[in-house]
Amino acid sequence: MNQVEIMTPKKVLIGSDCFQSWVDEALQSSIKKVVVLSVGPIWPMLEASLQLAADKGLKLKKIDYTLPGEPTTEYFDVLRKEAASFRPDLILGVGGGSVLDVAKLLAALCDRKTPISKCFGKGMLDKRSIALYCAPTTAGTGSEVSPNAILLDSNDGEKKGIISPYLLPDCTLIDPMFTLSLPAKITAETGMDALCHCVEAFINKNAHPFVDTYALRGIGLVCKNLLKACRDGRNKPAREALAMASMMGGLCLGPVNTCGVHALSYGLAGKYHMSHGLANALLLPEVLRFNKPACLARFGAMAKEIGLPYRYDNQQNADAVIEYIQQLSAQCGIPQHLSEIGIKKEDIPEMADMAMNVTRLLCNNPREITREDVITIYENIY
Ligand SMILES: NC(=O)c1ccc[n+]([C@@H]2O[C@H](COP(=O)([O-])OP(=O)(O)OC[C@H]3O[C@@H](n4cnc5c(N)ncnc54)[C@H](O)[C@@H]3O)[C@@H](O)[C@H]2O)c1
Ligand SMILES: [Fe+2]
Repeated sequence: MNQVEIMTPKKVLIGSDCFQSWVDEALQSSIKKVVVLSVGPIWPMLEASLQLAADKGLKLKKIDYTLPGEPTTEYFDVLRKEAASFRPDLILGVGGGSVLDVAKLLAALCDRKTPISKCFGKGMLDKRSIALYCAPTTAGTGSEVSPNAILLDSNDGEKKGIISPYLLPDCTLIDPMFTLSLPAKITAETGMDALCHCVEAFINKNAHPFVDTYALRGIGLVCKNLLKACRDGRNKPAREALAMASMMGGLCLGPVNTCGVHALSYGLAGKYHMSHGLANALLLPEVLRFNKPACLARFGAMAKEIGLPYRYDNQQNADAVIEYIQQLSAQCGIPQHLSEIGIKKEDIPEMADMAMNVTRLLCNNPREITREDVITIYENIY
């Protein structure tokens, strides 16, 4: 059996309405000053617990994440200054992956001078002195339980990862009630991101039987609940299932991580600043078609978990799974072609160059991908 390293947050609270427990957690840990980082639609949902925290003597500074898209290094530096001036002993991030990734980095860096550009890659942080609590309000990235944070480098326009055990929260609060307000489009895109984390961990070159259990269960949960949540955002069982799937996908990220889909999606999102989930969703079926010959035997278990009729022919299982995923994505309203979202065909070579730079994920792919392959994949979904 290959060796993997499984790191989790110190504590995970998961369940409907669990969020307000953060106040007791903080008080028990002698926390006094809290930076709360969140975003427009979420603030009203935080009012009661922030009032409770203030009543119990916690000093709060609210920082509003106002960037319209995913976080850049430039924006991170602005928030870092704002947070540092308050000298917090806890960063509480409540939001989607964009907010959580920034919250994680603020906790690790806002009391230090290290430039963010020196932190890219694996194991580049050497400590964290500020406590970190994360509460996801989308069900997709799994950032709440992963040691990863992703920023768009404002210097070269590329998306880059920072991977460190110091980015794991002290306390993660997964409260699916936050996601009831999530619009169908964001539900669909973020849900497909969670599906990618699980599928890509399962077909990964470094797949591991222990991590496979999360990956498979996450695949089943997304496939059986995403359409329900898109059609009726207030469907609580579907929202709860997706929150769990997101966590399961996140647990796959540290030990095994993603592969070709995420690498190629960095090319798309780097050039066009589209949402992370949309970029992945567009790529997943075609990258699976490309990878199929190298991981054929993995599709039977996926078919079974999704609830598709099991066939003794792996090729047939693979085709059924890929077709199912493509249909699910389309039924959830996600475009299936790059041309539908305004991407210029002449940009494909540049996007391919960006994707080829994501060697940390390409090296996990079950089948070697050349620059020509990347171009063909983008062209096939154009
Ligand atoms: N750290 C990791 O392990 C990891 C993994 C995958 C992706 N990511 C990163 O996460 C980011 C994407 O995160 P995301 O997909 O969660 O999207 P997001 O955080 O960018 O949020 C998308 C939109 O949804 C809104 N929103 C969030 N929660 C809402 C709610 N409950 N109700 C209404 N609106 C709400 C936000 O305001 C935003 O406009 C990317 O930068 C990606 O690279 C990180
Ligand atoms: Fe992702």
